[in-house]
Amino acid sequence: MTHSAQASAQSAFRAQLLTFNGDPSRSPEAAVFHEDGLLIVEDGHVVATGAYAALAPRLAPGTPVQDMRGKLIVPGFIDTHIHYPQTDMIASPAPGLLPWLDTYTFPTERRFTDEAYARDTASFFLEELLACGTTTALVYCTVHKQSADALFAESEARNLRMVAGKVLMDRNCPEFLRDTAQSGYDDSAELIGRWHNRGRQLYALTPRFAPTSTEAQLEACGVLARKHADVFVQSHVAENLDEVKWVNSLFPGHRSYLDIYDHYGLLRRRAVYGHCIHFDAEDRRRMAQTGTVASHCPTSNLFLGSGLFDFDKADEAGMPVALATDVGGGTSFSMLQTMNEAHKVARLTGHHLTATRMFYLATAGAAAALDLADKVGTLRPQSEADFVVLDPQATPLLARRTARTESLEELLFAFALLGDDRAVYETYAAGRRVHRRDEVRAHAPRAARLAQVVA
Ligand code: GUN
Ligand code: ZN
Repeated sequence: MTHSAQASAQSAFRAQLLTFNGDPSRSPEAAVFHEDGLLIVEDGHVVATGAYAALAPRLAPGTPVQDMRGKLIVPGFIDTHIHYPQTDMIASPAPGLLPWLDTYTFPTERRFTDEAYARDTASFFLEELLACGTTTALVYCTVHKQSADALFAESEARNLRMVAGKVLMDRNCPEFLRDTAQSGYDDSAELIGRWHNRGRQLYALTPRFAPTSTEAQLEACGVLARKHADVFVQSHVAENLDEVKWVNSLFPGHRSYLDIYDHYGLLRRRAVYGHCIHFDAEDRRRMAQTGTVASHCPTSNLFLGSGLFDFDKADEAGMPVALATDVGGGTSFSMLQTMNEAHKVARLTGHHLTATRMFYLATAGAAAALDLADKVGTLRPQSEADFVVLDPQATPLLARRTARTESLEELLFAFALLGDDRAVYETYAAGRRVHRRDEVRAHAPRAARLAQVVA
C-alpha cells in the first residue's frame, strides 16, 4: 500500500459535519455543527468546512461531491494510550493488573523478537483502529526496537499520523524482555533519528512504568527528553493500589508515584500518563502546572478493577485529560465504546460527562493536549484531512434511536452508548479513504474474503 496515488485534485463530501474550536463544557459555542455541510479536501488537507449552500459555489468546476447526507462526519478519533503488541491477548482474564502482566502480557510481548510477527500484528492493529475510526494513536511497542520499526513502517505505508515508542524496561520483568539503561537509551536515540517527524510519524519515549525501570534508566530517559524537546513521553502512573504500594517500596523518599517521573524531568508538554486514578490534589496540580496529559482508560480500569478516574477533581485542578482504550487491558478498540464506559465511570463519581464533551476529548481536545492542534483532531482548513463518516443507521437499534434524537447531544450520546466499529461507515487519512465498513478487510477470515470474491 502506498500513498503516492493521493489525489491532488479537490474532493468534497456533503454530510452533517461536527468539529470543535474549544471545550464545549466551557463554552457551548465550541461545538460547530452543520446540518447540511460540505467538507472540501485537497492534497491531504482540509480546504474548507461549512454549510453546503455557502460553500458549493466555491467548488472548482467538475469537483466530485460525495453525497453522504444522513451521515455525520467528525474528525478522526485520537486514542492516547494503546499497546499494539497486546492485540492478540485482548480479553485475557486475570485478577488485577500485576497478575495480568505476568500471566499474559509479558509472554505475549516476547513474540516481538520475530519481525514477521511484529509486521503482521502491526498491520492488523492499524486496520482495526481504522475500522473503529481512530486515525491517530499513542502506541506502546515492546522492548524490542524492531517492534517499533514494524509499527512505524505499517503506519507510514498507510500515511497515518501515529506516535509510538519502544518500551524501556530494565528490571522487575522476565530476562527475555529486559534492556539496560544504556541499550534503552541507544535504541531510543536511534529510533528518534529514524522515525521522529519522518512523514507523519512521531516518536514517544516509553518507560513502561516506574517499577520496571532502574533509576539509571529513568535518568537516561530524562536526558533524552531534554535533548529532544518535541518528542513525546508516555508511561503509566497510579493505576492500581497494589502497583502504588510496590512503587512506594521501590522508590522510598518520593512524595508520590507521580513525583518519581517529575524528579527525572518526565512531566512536561507532550508527556502523557495512562490512568492517573490514585492521585492526590498535589499530583493533579503538578500535572496541570507542567501541561502533562492524563490519559483516561475506562474500559481497562473497569476490566482490571483498577479504580474510577475522577473528572470533577481533574477539572478542578485544570489537569489536561484525554481518552484512551489501553488495549489489551482495555476491552475494545472503539473510541465510541470507550466513551460509553467513560460516561458510566463518571456517573459513578457523580460527574455528568456529556457526549459532546467526549467527542471533543476524543478529537480536538486530545490534539490540543498533545500539541497537535494545528495538524489533527479538527476539520479546520489547513489541517490534515483525517476524518470519519459515522452512520446513524448502522444497526436497527441505532436507526430507531437516532430517528428520535432531538438535539446534537442526544445524537452523539446514541453513537457513544450504542455505537462501535459498525457505526463507522468510512475512515479517511490525509484525504484518502483507508477503511470502508462494507468491504471485507485483508485480515478477515478466509471464508469472508472468498464470499466477497464470489459475490
Ligand atoms: N502498567 C505497566 N504495563 C502495563 C500495561 O501493559 N497495561 C496496563 N494497563 N498497565 C500497565
Ligand atoms: Zn497501558
